[in-house]
Parts: sequence; structure tokens; C-alpha cells
Amino acid sequence: MQQVNLGMIGGGTVGSGVFHALSQNGDLMAARLGVKLAFRKIAVKAFDEPRPYPIARALMTTDWQEVVNDPQIHVVIELVGGTGIAKTMVLAALAQGKTVVTANKALISACGPELFVAAAKSGANLYYEASVCGGIPIIKSLREGFVANQFPAMYGIVNGTCNYILTRMKLEGADFAAVLADAQKQGYAETPPDLDIDGIDAQHKTGILASLAHGFWVDHHQIHTEGIREVSKIDMQFVEKLGYTIKLLGIVKKVESGKQKAEIQASVYPALIPSTHVLANVNQVFNAVFVRGDVVGDTLFYGRGAGKDATASAVLSDVADAALDLKNGTKSRVQPFVAHAKNGRVVPLDEIVSQYYVRFTVVDKPGVLAKIAAIFGAAKIGISSVIQPEGHEGESVPLILMIHDAPNAVMRKALAKIAKLPFVKAKPVMFRVEPLN
Ligand code: NDP
Ligand code: HSE
Repeated sequence: MQQVNLGMIGGGTVGSGVFHALSQNGDLMAARLGVKLAFRKIAVKAFDEPRPYPIARALMTTDWQEVVNDPQIHVVIELVGGTGIAKTMVLAALAQGKTVVTANKALISACGPELFVAAAKSGANLYYEASVCGGIPIIKSLREGFVANQFPAMYGIVNGTCNYILTRMKLEGADFAAVLADAQKQGYAETPPDLDIDGIDAQHKTGILASLAHGFWVDHHQIHTEGIREVSKIDMQFVEKLGYTIKLLGIVKKVESGKQKAEIQASVYPALIPSTHVLANVNQVFNAVFVRGDVVGDTLFYGRGAGKDATASAVLSDVADAALDLKNGTKSRVQPFVAHAKNGRVVPLDEIVSQYYVRFTVVDKPGVLAKIAAIFGAAKIGISSVIQPEGHEGESVPLILMIHDAPNAVMRKALAKIAKLPFVKAKPVMFRVEPLN
């Protein structure tokens, strides 16, 4: 049987998971693929670092160049992370004509075009299934399984840490800071965790999904991003009463502009979704991506978005594709970001129309609601419902409004005006509503 030799750089959480999974299921993979997969070298930073699974010492080196420059190694797996030395490693491997497999969403997100050009130049493939949603095969599905589709909408719960925090806040009434500390202890959160809770990790993943789905490079800086720091227990309770659940969503939607080029919304923010929708029941550290294809209809991908084993599964799926490429003598795959929509545009959020949940903290006195309604009315913003829990006249009370479709810029300006009214006692809290219909 033909053998494909693997070199890996990084033997930490994911790297040791890959080594372990191949030791466990390597024979099964060989039987399925008709190719034997064998590790030849694994580079780490220091031999004696603790690892979730042990790695055979005889395979280890502390010089990553030994992996990249070994002519016997056909496929290089990069599991170091970040955009620094990892970029040098990936480019060096591609320059040698080696297929590269990476889980590095930060790197793909920051340098995707450069890396894919380098891969094309050297005739090598660059695989990155594990960079989005860990073990869920979403990249392969978008790239190959749904090749016959356009994608009117995609909604992803793509950050396990945020989903874990929001789930425990909702189900247990737990406190944000306490749950975050727990997420860090469980190893879900990035270091520092701001990357997760400020939505940056989700932004990277959403950019990768948007680029794949719409065929032009979506720079992550173009993605309007809000994290989950503003989500409080009180809003969790109100939205639940209204029949909604708050989830941090990566949103990629086609905007109907009548123009030739692809125009899309690409955003990350905590949104209210109907509690009856399947996405609302994706809990704890699980990820899910709801993909609407114009041909296939609605589909849902669910699974573990992080962790040594789930992520190893995705890495090895890429390794299997790479091995088949080598076995069959063809590296021809559906292109990663094909030129079918070179001139696509990410529409700025200000131009996007949304529905909204707003919570004001106002003094309970006559005329307050009328003044707020007047500002919304003047901006042609419609109120769909109002809740004010019974309070005492003259005291501060929460006032919750659900708002019909309105452009984000118009809504932002109206809220800024209302925030200046003397009876408004705190910064208004606003979340968008995604009906998912
Ligand atoms: P870890 O920090 O656990 O592992 C990083 C590895 O890189 C370590 O083995 C480290 O060596 C090695 N390393 C660092 N610098 C060098 C160097 N200069 N030369 C050789 N080896 C080096 O990270 P993870 O395994 O968690 O993440 C790896 C990648 O996978 C990242 O891109 C991450 O974003 C991505 N990913 C991670 C997921 C997860 O659940 N953890 C999920 C999905 C993607 P040493 O062990 O000696 O310190
Ligand atoms: N910190 C990330 C998360 C890890 O919580 O989803 C997987 O990318």
C-alpha cells in the first residue's frame, strides 16, 4: 500500500489530539483510503511541555525546519497558531510544494489571499477544515457538498466559549464573570479570552465562511463585530418572556441590491432568535451553522467546535484528502475562494435593515413613552410591542421596546437622541432580532 508521510508542527492540544487519533484509527483510515498515513516528524517548542496525549519522543524535534525541509515528508500539518511564526512555517512548506493542513483561523483570516496565492503558485493544496467550528465539516460542505448552491443566508454559532457563557447565563442565571472563569478552566477560551468574548474569534470564522460561500475575499476587518459583554441577566429574562433566546451569531446574508456583483451582510453580534428555532437549542460549548442554499434549502451542522479530539477529526479529514490527492496524482479540488464573484461587497451595517430589541432605563412618569415614540416616529421607525414592568411613579424602571424593520444607521441615530433625554437614566441596551425565516 502506498504510504503518505506526515510532518506536524505543534504538538499541543490539537497536535497531540491528531497524533492520538491517528494512532487509534490509522489502520481504519488506511483501509478506507487505500493509503497508509505515517508520522515522520513532529516539531514542538520544548520536549518536556505537558501534553493532553503523549507523543512518541523519537518523532519529536524542536526545529520546525526539519519538518518542512524533509524531502520524505509529503504533507505538513501546522498546529502552532497565530499569525507570526506559523505564517513563515506555512509559506515555507508551500514553497517546497508540500500540501499544508492547518487549523489556524487567525492566520487564514489575516493572510488568506497571500497563502492561497502561494499554494497555487507552488501547485500545492492548503486545507483548513479545522479552522472553523472544530470537528464540524462545514468547509468541505460549503466547498464541495453545496457546490451547486448559492447561499442566501448563513447563521453560525461559531464560538464555543460565548455559547457556553450565554447558555449558563440563560439556564442557571449564572453571572458572566464566573462562567467566563469556568470556560477558561475548561480550556475552551482563547488566551486572552477577549478574542472570544469580544467576538473576534467568531469574526475570523465568519469571514472564512463568507468568503467560501460568496467567492470573494471577505476581509475580517469589514465584518461589523460586537461581543457578548453587554448581555446581562435582565435582558436574558426579558427576551425569554418574549419568546426569544440570545445567541452570538456569525451572520452572512445576501443583500438583494439588484446589482450584478455579490452584496452581502457579514456581521457578528448577539442576536435574539426565536426560542423555538433549532439554533436556540444549541447549548453549552457546542457550535452549529445553519446554512440556507438556494437549491438544497435549509440545512444544519451541529457539533463540537473546539477541543483536542473534535479538532483532530477535522485535521485528519484534510489529511485524508491530501493523501488521496497524492495517491491519485491530482491536486485539483474546488478552488478555495474562486473568482466567480471577484467584485463582491460587504455592505456596511448602517445600510442593513434589522429588527430590534431595546431596553431603556427611564423614570416612570407621564409623557416618557410618548416622547420616545415621537423620536422613533419622526425617524419612521415602527414599534411592534412595549413592555414596562409595573413600577413606582418617579422611580427608574426598565422599558422594553420591540422595533420593526429599520436601517441600522437610522436606528443608531434615533437611539442616540433618546439617550440624551433627561428621563433616560442609563445607556440604552440594543440587540438585533434575527427571525431566521
Ligand atoms: P497549543 O498552544 O496547545 O499548541 C501549540 C503548539 O505549538 C505546542 O505544541 C507548541 O509547542 C508548538 N509551538 C509553538 N511555537 C513553536 C515553534 N516555534 N516551533 C515548533 N512548535 C511550536 O495550541 P492548540 O493546539 O490549542 O491550537 C493549535 C491551532 O489550532 C491554533 O491555530 C488554534 O487556533 C487552532 N484550533 C484550536 C482549537 C482548540 O480547541 N484548541 C480548535 C480549533 C482550532 P510546546 O508543546 O512545546 O509548547
Ligand atoms: N476559543 C474557541 C471557541 C476555540 O471558544 O470556540 C475554537 O476555535
